Amino acid sequence: MNWNVGILPGDGIGPEIMEQAKKILLAVEKMGNHAFHCEEGYIGGVAIDRTGNPFPDETYELCKRSDAVLFGAIGEPKYDHDPKAKIRPEQGLLAMRKKLGLFANIRPVRSFRSLAQKSPLRSDLIDNIDFVVIRELTGGIYFGEPRGRSEDGKTAFDTCLYTRDEVHRILELAFTYARNRKNKVTVVDKANVLATSRLWRETAQKLHAENSDIQMEYMFVDNAAMQLIQYPKQFDVIVTENMFGDILTDEASVITGSLGLLPSASVGLLTSVFEPIHGSYPQAAGKNIANPLGMILSTALMLDVAFNLHAESDRIVEAVEKSLEEGVVTEDIADQKPYSTSEVGDWVAGYIQPK
Ligand code: IPM
Ligand code: MG
Repeated sequence: MNWNVGILPGDGIGPEIMEQAKKILLAVEKMGNHAFHCEEGYIGGVAIDRTGNPFPDETYELCKRSDAVLFGAIGEPKYDHDPKAKIRPEQGLLAMRKKLGLFANIRPVRSFRSLAQKSPLRSDLIDNIDFVVIRELTGGIYFGEPRGRSEDGKTAFDTCLYTRDEVHRILELAFTYARNRKNKVTVVDKANVLATSRLWRETAQKLHAENSDIQMEYMFVDNAAMQLIQYPKQFDVIVTENMFGDILTDEASVITGSLGLLPSASVGLLTSVFEPIHGSYPQAAGKNIANPLGMILSTALMLDVAFNLHAESDRIVEAVEKSLEEGVVTEDIADQKPYSTSEVGDWVAGYIQPK
């Protein structure tokens, strides 16, 4: 089959890791049966520099005509130190999520045996962890209005807002995931304090009454942050609102041993976007040292979730596992001589498509 893939490298290390993802797509093409037509677009700081808009219309159109989109990273420090900057690269990412209706961000968290010593947790705690965090992505405090400053500038405010429909659709998605896994859903909220969380909990309880095959659990977010460290193996599917999900997934990622490895899928109404959960790591940009494995695993996730190419996806995951075992990894996780970003990409691509 032919697939249209939108390629948005973004900022910082984005372009370098995206080059490796493209090698992987080429290697999969060489396995036969599938062709990927890649088209590139700008987003984030590079898009501001070129067009003044962090998510230009051309990029939006490109995403809409793509069967799926690969996205690298966003964020450029020159904007971070200017609190008055009107346009920020991150707005490009938020605009993309909102305009494409990417309401669910799926972040699978699993441990790789060869990275166990890199985890801040004891290896018996993280051995065989395998859960997925489903983060609501287009609502909550990230998008609620009003937001801003009072006239005298002394007060600032954001609004956390959810509708029942928004909560309902993400919970349903969580149930679907749970049914293909261990059938357990943990709803993370702060229902002891927040009105939006009480709406989440009420909606979840109603939905559970109609789906009683699912084992449901409710956990306050502060407790969940602690439980993720204390006993991560208890989780199967965690579903939560936008900001809690942002925070908990950074936490969840490091317990696997490396932030550089975790992929994510943002699924929605118009297309789906696949990206590593790490950021743009500007200090490493252009140095050919960034870890491309999260981007490569995001490519595997795209083949799996968006294109139903399960065997090809498994082959990529196998290649990544092999590269970890053989120590063909970048400096962030290397015990011995580190490999460069492009060398890791070449090695993984070569494994997928043996000469
Ligand atoms: C993420 C990032 C983004 C978020 C930033 C870059 C706006 O942290 O995708 O988790 O907060 O959603
Ligand atoms: Mg984040």
